[in-house]
Amino acid sequence: MLSTVRAYARGPVLTAPGPRSVEMIRSIGAIRRDPLTFLAASHAAHGPIVQFPVPVPPAYSVADAAVARRVLVENARGYDKQTMQYRGLSVLTGEGLLTADGDVWRAARRTVQPAFHHELVSQMRGAVLAAVDSACDRWLADPAVDIEAEMMRIALEIVGTTLFSADLSAEAADLSAATMRALDAVVSRAQRPWAASMRIPTPANRALRASLAALDAAVDSLITHRLRNPVQHTDMLALLMQAHDVRAGHAVPRPVRDEIVTFIVAGHETVASGLTWAWHLLLSHPEHHLRLREAAVDDVQGQAYARAVFEEALRLYPPAWLITRRSTEPDTLSGHSIPCGALIIISPWVIHRDPRWWPEPEAFNPERFLREDDARRLAYLPFGIGQRMCIGREMALLEGAVALARIAQRMELTPTGPGEVGRIASVTLRPATHITALVRPR
Ligand code: HEM
Repeated sequence: MLSTVRAYARGPVLTAPGPRSVEMIRSIGAIRRDPLTFLAASHAAHGPIVQFPVPVPPAYSVADAAVARRVLVENARGYDKQTMQYRGLSVLTGEGLLTADGDVWRAARRTVQPAFHHELVSQMRGAVLAAVDSACDRWLADPAVDIEAEMMRIALEIVGTTLFSADLSAEAADLSAATMRALDAVVSRAQRPWAASMRIPTPANRALRASLAALDAAVDSLITHRLRNPVQHTDMLALLMQAHDVRAGHAVPRPVRDEIVTFIVAGHETVASGLTWAWHLLLSHPEHHLRLREAAVDDVQGQAYARAVFEEALRLYPPAWLITRRSTEPDTLSGHSIPCGALIIISPWVIHRDPRWWPEPEAFNPERFLREDDARRLAYLPFGIGQRMCIGREMALLEGAVALARIAQRMELTPTGPGEVGRIASVTLRPATHITALVRPR
């Protein structure tokens, strides 16, 4: 505490260019409202490495693909995840795979990795089709659709079937809403340091507690159901229960609870955000929508084009718009000295719009993902890169492609909302306005 006060009294030690303190103070409201515009403007003004004038911790933003690679891949050992972003998330997920570091992370990854084996992922197609088909059947009766709510429901049902062999369709809408509320509460707490103690009954804390209770109840119900129906399973739930010796009559071990919540949270909101943006882009670019509908007549072609649409949506609107790390030793990034304990903010949003890699970066052009090129290999990181890369990447890409293609094959979507939508950069990047459509069978 005293050292923090002293650091503030001394002021920041600047090792890279960036906005001055007065500019930052003047921009606080704008940063909260739209951090992405602020990040992009800071890099446009100061270059690929920007230091913000805060003394504790020294904070740097990175908008250069090669520097991101140094932090996440080449010198990954010199960085960990002890950042405000991940500490905030751990209120929800505990020490699950997403937030853990070191040996705890390594052991957790080893436990669940077999559930993401390539062959198992390719078998998930049936589960995706089942969730999408049941949504399409629902829309026949109720064709005015809120795209984000529906994509959340589909994605959660897929997590339920593929990772836990459980039918979550009855509780999917409530559980998705609880997850969203919890994630928003995590961000709200991070923006208001005085809300740090969970005991203070602020609206954000109350929402967070209620959402935590809903997630814990979902965990208990998954485990109770499995213990009562001891059929041989090879899914992620089985791997976790074996690794931690889960038994009837005993409390659910904390690592099992943390991992299940991690996968519910990380495994559906991100995919749903990607799918929602993909629909927004398709509905506002009829030529690409038409191409998808034509391709979708054939399963293989439809899936190939739909995957390109999904990947392009993840480029323009990366659900994980921030990836943060803490330096655990001094480093040099692009000629700038980085002290130990610094916060490094990597923004896929800014990197994905770098015109050196992406010609006409603002344009929605799925065709760029139909060919292999360097940009895709070197300046595309919606799933992160390196050892902490998303474990669900392959599953998410399959889900995105199969879901978009199937919906386009079966249904005709006509937009009913405004063409322009803003964005909310919360834990994930979401549209600020409801994206709505009228859905009819083709
Ligand atoms: C479009 C969908 C998705 C996006 C954009 C996404 C994005 C990411 C990103 C950027 C990271 C790395 C964070 C970092 O390095 O700090 C990550 C990690 C992770 N993701 Fe995803 N993800 C998606 C889907 C999924 C799915 C479907 C699952 C699970 C079923 C999942 C589970 C995880 C987990 C557990 C980690 C932590 C991995 C580790 O550190 O070992 N994600 N994700």
